Amino acid sequence: MKITNLKVNHLTNPVGYRFEHLHFTWNVTETNAKQGIMGKLRIWKADEMIEEFDLSPWAWFLDAKLCLEPFTRYEWTVEIEADNGERATSEKAFFETGRQDSKWEAQWLIADATATSVYFKKLFQLENTVSSARLYICGLGLYEVYVNREMLGEERLLPGYHSYDLVTEYQTMDVTELLQKSGDEAELVVMLGNGWYKGRFVFDGGFENIYGKNLKLIAELHIQYANGQKEIVCTDDSWNCFTSEIDNNNIYDGEVNDYRLRGNEVLYTLESVAREYMLVERTTMPIKEVEVLSPKRIIVTPQGDTVLDFGEMITGWVRFLCKEKQDVRIRLQYGEWLVHGNFYRENLRTAKAEYIYVSEGVQKWIRPHFTYYGFRYVKVEGISDVRLEDFKAARIRSACDVNGRIITGNEKVNRLIANAYASQQCNFLDIPTDCPQRDERMGWTGDIAVFADTACFQMESAGFLNHYMQMLKKEQKACGGKVPFTVPWPKPNSKENAAVDKNPFMRAVTACGWGDAATLVPWTLYEHYQDINLLREYYPIMKDWIAYEKGRAVNNTIPYLWQQDLQLGDWLALDSQDPNGLFGLTDSGFIASAYFYFSCELTKRVALVLEYEDDAKEIAADMEKIKAAFWAYFLDEKGNLTIPETQTAYAMLLSFGLCPKEYETKVIDGLKRLVEKNKGHLSTGFLGTPLLCPTLSKYGEHELACELLLNEEYPGWLYEVNLGAVTIWERWNSINPDGTLSSTGMNSLNHYAYGSIVSWIYRYICGFQPYLDEENTIVIQPGYCKNLGYVSSEYFAPWGKYEVEWNSNAVGEMSVEVSVPFNGKAILKFNGKKEILGAGRYKR
Ligand code: BGC
Repeated sequence: MKITNLKVNHLTNPVGYRFEHLHFTWNVTETNAKQGIMGKLRIWKADEMIEEFDLSPWAWFLDAKLCLEPFTRYEWTVEIEADNGERATSEKAFFETGRQDSKWEAQWLIADATATSVYFKKLFQLENTVSSARLYICGLGLYEVYVNREMLGEERLLPGYHSYDLVTEYQTMDVTELLQKSGDEAELVVMLGNGWYKGRFVFDGGFENIYGKNLKLIAELHIQYANGQKEIVCTDDSWNCFTSEIDNNNIYDGEVNDYRLRGNEVLYTLESVAREYMLVERTTMPIKEVEVLSPKRIIVTPQGDTVLDFGEMITGWVRFLCKEKQDVRIRLQYGEWLVHGNFYRENLRTAKAEYIYVSEGVQKWIRPHFTYYGFRYVKVEGISDVRLEDFKAARIRSACDVNGRIITGNEKVNRLIANAYASQQCNFLDIPTDCPQRDERMGWTGDIAVFADTACFQMESAGFLNHYMQMLKKEQKACGGKVPFTVPWPKPNSKENAAVDKNPFMRAVTACGWGDAATLVPWTLYEHYQDINLLREYYPIMKDWIAYEKGRAVNNTIPYLWQQDLQLGDWLALDSQDPNGLFGLTDSGFIASAYFYFSCELTKRVALVLEYEDDAKEIAADMEKIKAAFWAYFLDEKGNLTIPETQTAYAMLLSFGLCPKEYETKVIDGLKRLVEKNKGHLSTGFLGTPLLCPTLSKYGEHELACELLLNEEYPGWLYEVNLGAVTIWERWNSINPDGTLSSTGMNSLNHYAYGSIVSWIYRYICGFQPYLDEENTIVIQPGYCKNLGYVSSEYFAPWGKYEVEWNSNAVGEMSVEVSVPFNGKAILKFNGKKEILGAGRYKR
């Protein structure tokens, strides 16, 4: 028996976070036992046990509120005795507090505004042997730390992307090891670049200096010597500042690296920390190089370019071994696709997405520092002998664990599932982005709202999305209850930039479906992780959002419907008259009112979980009013839609609980009819697509849902697969059958929204259904789908791993094998029977 996967607040050994509450989780594996009979969770500080909690027999988590000291590492273990007599204790895990409310002695060092990349440097004496050392630091835009010329830690693109105008997050880093090696004199260097903070950013041409005009740094190095002495090295006027070798750099355009620029003194000013509450502990997960990939082949294109093909889509960068003579200029350009065999990147719009390096004449590995790219292909110029082994791609993303896996007997479906996972990997970089390649890469709320469920099946997403929700909470407050289109919501100065007012997205801040991320994401996180602390934190977000929606709706001509304001409708749906239309045919007031209702429903559910009975009653009363207005306006007396019928409208009626019981059959028949009328194809956009197959499966048309999945013609998921997609595309027709791009204005090949089909595969093909009515339980209801043959799948509930494998014969009879983890239960619904299973493996 083993106890593994110890996490605090969904993070493994977190350092420098604020732990308002502590949510401990762990898994028990490698045992035949079914459940625990007793357990202990112990917490230590400096080798002394300070708390011991009894765990109840079925416990898989413990919530605690402790009075934690700042600057302190705590260790913890879990011990379990199981029902078969086995007993185990986990290895020690830890969590470490940051500064909490202690004052900064350090001052901000503010580089001259002309600088695009600098390094600050400090030399200091180590008085004694170092027993431990911590660096409390933040650099803006982006920073990297070097201690005695060695890069500190594995994190990249620090401090990550947060709402810098509303809060600044600092990081805590363990420097002990690098300082011990140093002997007497130590050197601390922090290199800074523009990043999201000050580099060109935001769609439609972009803006510079969105959050600030100057690169800046604050750092305190706390050294604990073996003899008990303490010392703090602070950023102050004893530091030196120089130009780095990096010239132009930003997220979209890439980076220019020219060693000849390095080392000129840069002027800086000092500023003390005026508002401590603005400089707070991190909420971000570490961004790391999670994988290193080699190019699969070198292509010389018909146009004569030399291009590396990495075979799959990657977010990150390429490092290369430079062997060129001094001053040779090397250029790498990044792209997603080849058109007629040629390197292509017009769909990146204004993003230059390149890396330029002027050789120093010294053989070494080179990489960018303050940018990233979304790519499969890299065009290489300036390297005389291009060899596969001299290039490596680093995949960079937030370091979330894998949470699920599906393999079926259908290669194309497997590819589709892999593509959705790839698009998540590529867009989970500190915040959930829409795409990783063009001049956008922003945290569009609507995209994650529809993808969150898939995201949670595929990766452990609670820690990652918590950072996003914390930013969303702040932005929502700043926007008076609205939830902006993107989180963070950059606010370029409209006085300095006329373009701000011209952009409709910059003028309007929210729309339904997008703003509803405020309710959809918290609910999805609760379904998967059941962490009530998170719900408590997000409940005000949910309430404020439905209050905002209500404010719009009660002021509408027909009260309680939301019919005004800029809406994005069923974004990119294919059913409008205009083939290039963006909004789809489904009435936008129908969608907005339906979302208003559904957001109320989710908020009401959370109010009940949190035992806010009065709130729940009040919301329920509003829901009755919305429903009455909705039925009166959108349905006639026979239950027909009064707006043009669409697949999305029908699916939404049913899945948002807005279909009168007596019309359910009529509505599902309508949906079926529209699919048939469209020759078995979908015609849904961002908002309708995630509802389509689940609605069909739930209302007795599972077979039709499977046909939609397996349809290989346009539009459909396998159409993309057949055209060689290695990620999910933004549009159903992103690529034409001849391999050209259908358009360039808004056409990313790495947009996860339509990957939401994968949550349907987890829920309705594998059959994993998170279940909240009983503890430690999920429902497993495998669903047959012809042409899959078999399915082998796993899903990690927070208490452990469930597995479902099914096989089918020629007439569609299924056999299934299920495994249930220690301390877990499953309600298996199979072949018309329902049984409750405890931990173990079962064949049916
Ligand atoms: C983004 C989308 C987003 C949409 C909303 C696009 O530019 O890439 O994914 O949701 O705009 O308007």
